[in-house]
Amino acid sequence: MVNMYDLILKKRNGGVLSASEIDFFISGYTKDEIPDYQAAALLMAIYFQGMNSRETADLTMAIVNSGSQIDLSAIPGIKVDKHSTGGVGDKTTLILGPLVAAAGVPVAKMSGRGLGYTGGTIDKLESIPGFNTALAPDDFIRQVKEISFALMAQTGALAPADKKLYALRDVTATVDSIPLIASSVTAKKIASGANAILLDVKCGSGAFMKTSPEALTLAKAMVDIGRQVGREMLAVVTDMSRPLGHFIGNALEVREALATLREEGPEDLKELCLTLGAHMLVLGKVASSYTAARSRLETILQNGEALRKFKDLVQAQGGDPAVVDNPDRLPEAGIKQEVLSSRSGYVFAIDAMQMGRGAMLLGAGRMTKDQGIDHAAGLELKKKPGELVQAGEPLAILHTNRAETLADATAAITGAFTISDTPPEPVPLILETVE
Ligand code: URA
Repeated sequence: MVNMYDLILKKRNGGVLSASEIDFFISGYTKDEIPDYQAAALLMAIYFQGMNSRETADLTMAIVNSGSQIDLSAIPGIKVDKHSTGGVGDKTTLILGPLVAAAGVPVAKMSGRGLGYTGGTIDKLESIPGFNTALAPDDFIRQVKEISFALMAQTGALAPADKKLYALRDVTATVDSIPLIASSVTAKKIASGANAILLDVKCGSGAFMKTSPEALTLAKAMVDIGRQVGREMLAVVTDMSRPLGHFIGNALEVREALATLREEGPEDLKELCLTLGAHMLVLGKVASSYTAARSRLETILQNGEALRKFKDLVQAQGGDPAVVDNPDRLPEAGIKQEVLSSRSGYVFAIDAMQMGRGAMLLGAGRMTKDQGIDHAAGLELKKKPGELVQAGEPLAILHTNRAETLADATAAITGAFTISDTPPEPVPLILETVE
């Protein structure tokens, strides 16, 4: 008879857990039969002793089986999902979704809200007046059949064990463990029903994984789970040492995504979307090679099909479609204040994490689960790494409706910039690809 004491002891001493032992833990914890203190002790033992790839895959499937799974089989074609391990100013889904859907890959995507720094994809979409992210499963599937694209908030019915475990990990210093992150991320994606999954593993100051070797280890752990459980997965490690694009904050990021879909956006964002999108087309078997996929996506971006697909999405989900042609209809902050550089030089680095913190202070993110978000709040970067700045020139513009946050946010943003006499070495955006 399995019991929690023996599982904790076994893992603490470096043992390997069996599939049935892992199932016992996950199903017992989900049903409140195992107390938090024993679950926390096991998580800490896993944190220190790790898990082999078989244990990690078993943990993933135990988390998947803790709840329901979405059945996307009614939608023809290979359904390809994408997940990013989170980054500051990461609005790629808003561009990638319509781009890939316009190229013929059905995108049935469930997304989360953000906690902590900036909002998640769902928060960003909700800055569009009227946009409904709470679709019923049948409507979600019908919409993907009709327009190849739907985006909804993840429901609590999927991977409930992950929700409980993540909350416990958050308060027991056990979030940053490779097997725990890999199983948490992939379980939610597997439960969401896609046939193939592209993982964008972020690396740098604004991400969970601060260094390239750590990010690569996480990427390999996730692709390995896919191989073991029979879901095709491909991971790309991308730079998150600086924010993506120029805007951080929900409505501001929708604006920047629309500009990118109109071919008027920043190069780094476009490059990332074309790279990730091309991999998705290959995974979805609508392109024979990465190069062919990329040139197809460039055409779809240039001829406006991707922008039209975004408009279709907004219309289908009850949002104001006029926002797409006129982004001034998005909420706008009452206060806009510049943050000035105190010296001249090159922008050497921007700490993405600090930028995220600044945006959160202004109202763009939540400090607690139940806190409301101000869709208009956020910030605009006027300078990115490698650019020259003169003393007194703006580094960023703060957007907020909460005047009382300006002093703290200004301090956070000023502290996020390192100005130097020499420019930094350029950092590639795409660091590794794991197939
Ligand atoms: N994101 C997740 O979904 N899970 C983790 O464990 C870490 C990041």
